[in-house]
Amino acid sequence: MAKVIFKSDNKTVEVPDGSDLVQVAEDNGASISFSCKAGVCLSCLVNVNKGMENLSEKTENEKATLEGFGAKPNQRLACQCKVLKGEVEIENP
Ligand code: FES
Repeated sequence: MAKVIFKSDNKTVEVPDGSDLVQVAEDNGASISFSCKAGVCLSCLVNVNKGMENLSEKTENEKATLEGFGAKPNQRLACQCKVLKGEVEIENP
């Protein structure tokens, strides 16, 4: 099991390894907004405070969108992330 901490919502949930972060956020009422769910609109930009190494690699769409926006190294698009293992703490930017 992996653990996701939604710092902005003061919520911690345990999820199976490999869970889609978008699904975890929606199932648990986290305050991350989603729109395209394809890595292009930036709605779901989050800061990863801890556990970046426990998230899946960036998709090509995510890389292009984050680079175009000039995102910080600790920022990811939640719709493109799987929680692979361990603990991840995210926060709204
Ligand atoms: S919902 Fe559009 S980039 Fe994630």
